[in-house]
Amino acid sequence: MSPCDPGRDCPLCPRLVAFRDRQRAARPDWHNAPVPSFGTDNARLLIVGLAPGLQGANRTGRPFTGDWAGDLLYETLIGFGFATGTYDERPDDGLTLVDTRITNAVRCVPPENKPTTEEIATCRGFLAATIAAMPRLTAVITLGKIGHDSAVRALGERPSRVPFTHGGVTGVGRVTVFSSYHCSRYNTNTGVLTPEMFRAVFASVRRHLDAAG
Ligand code: URA
Repeated sequence: MSPCDPGRDCPLCPRLVAFRDRQRAARPDWHNAPVPSFGTDNARLLIVGLAPGLQGANRTGRPFTGDWAGDLLYETLIGFGFATGTYDERPDDGLTLVDTRITNAVRCVPPENKPTTEEIATCRGFLAATIAAMPRLTAVITLGKIGHDSAVRALGERPSRVPFTHGGVTGVGRVTVFSSYHCSRYNTNTGVLTPEMFRAVFASVRRHLDAAG
């Protein structure tokens, strides 16, 4: 098993293994395995989501791909030069990330999209290894409180020192953490997160990285 990405049959979280086995039986044509990070470890930007969506990343095998959340995320990434090509909800759509890597706090799809505290803590080893393997890492965008708190812990800091707020910008060791409400269908449908609010976070990251040179 790589320290950065769990193997296809990662055994660490019994509840998630049981859920995965049920999905494999029901949909043998789906990915139904831990979803690896997308993008090179040489990137300066890391985006940390929550966990694969059942019919999105868990089906396609690429973070945020086939999820409602991916429509807004990939459109925004293309808009700010963090991705090129066309997002077409398929891992073979040719979309390429630019100086960016996308991962999830929990790599397996959790029932009802809700990982337990223990599952988040168990999977954090992979997140910490992913971060440690990025020598040029300069900025982290955290999507939602669960991804935020886990990323902050993986960076070696206490979430109480870096509380989650939409639009928050905090230095944590060698990186700057930018936090955003998660781009989920629920948040966008209820107006908790508008595309403008989401874009403002990425505009701020763009300025930060451009200034860092
Ligand atoms: N898809 C992902 O890969 N991560 C999320 O957080 C949501 C949808």
